[in-house]
Amino acid sequence: MSKANDREIVKIQYNSDKNLNARQAFHIIFSTNKYAWANWVFDQYSIKPNERIIEFGCGNGSIWSNNKDRIPKDTKLVLTDFSEGMLNAAKESLQDIEGIDYAVMDIQNIEYDDDSFDCVIANHMLYHVQNRDLAISEVARILKPEGTFYATTNGSNNMKGFKDLVVAFDPRLNIKSFSVTSEFGLENGEEQLYKHFNSVEKIIREDSLHITEAKPFVDYVLSLEGHTNGKEILTESRIKDFYAYLENIISRDGSIDIPKSSGIFIARNPKK
Ligand SMILES: C[S@@+](CC[C@H](N)C(=O)[O-])C[C@H]1O[C@@H](n2cnc3c(N)ncnc32)[C@H](O)[C@@H]1O
Repeated sequence: MSKANDREIVKIQYNSDKNLNARQAFHIIFSTNKYAWANWVFDQYSIKPNERIIEFGCGNGSIWSNNKDRIPKDTKLVLTDFSEGMLNAAKESLQDIEGIDYAVMDIQNIEYDDDSFDCVIANHMLYHVQNRDLAISEVARILKPEGTFYATTNGSNNMKGFKDLVVAFDPRLNIKSFSVTSEFGLENGEEQLYKHFNSVEKIIREDSLHITEAKPFVDYVLSLEGHTNGKEILTESRIKDFYAYLENIISRDGSIDIPKSSGIFIARNPKK
């Protein structure tokens, strides 16, 4: 099993929202596409008033906190995550939105009846799931026949070059063995979804990274806790060396420029 979906490691990684927050901050600071990811994702949703929506692996709830004013009237929203710490972070950031239900839940074991939701969301999380085929079949089961499943993920070229920079600093850092897209990415997600849906659309977002500061880069590497050995290798003095290494590159080249690849699958017509 690859480390992206080792259950114990995923639990450590998402015990709280700390690691996810560090990576989200990095992307917000350095993405060249200044139209926010959370707003772009929400643009892809087609939600009508009164619909029942459930999100799995909701994380800190950032899609909803960034689109508070766009949630249609009388939406019945259920936010779930298998990490209680994450769910608490979502509750806190969404406390001023009334009527959201929260539940600790694993997408592989969904505690809802057949045909009970108009819309299911699973953003940047299917690659962490051990039995993904079971999870996707569960999503198809709880969706109404005319319902829609939205799932964001990355492509295999996402942040290409980032890992090379890290390993060039210290070859002991095992960041290269960590890959989420080999599990569920923009290149192999479609065929996994087609097993349980008759229609799958893929929409790509254009973006890249223009990195001009060392600290958020270092914080990103440290945030991969569990998935890599950054916490063990990057002692206090090695962190200082890492800053100096990145600052040298930035002052020499003006910036570190790295491609991004991410997008969304929209699956309709669940196979029942
Ligand atoms: C990369 S974060 C994505 C969070 C959020 N969806 C986003 O896009 O910002 C992955 C989330 O999935 C959750 N998760 C991982 N495996 C899960 C599972 N089997 N069932 C439910 N949630 C899971 C984690 O706790 C974490 O909050």
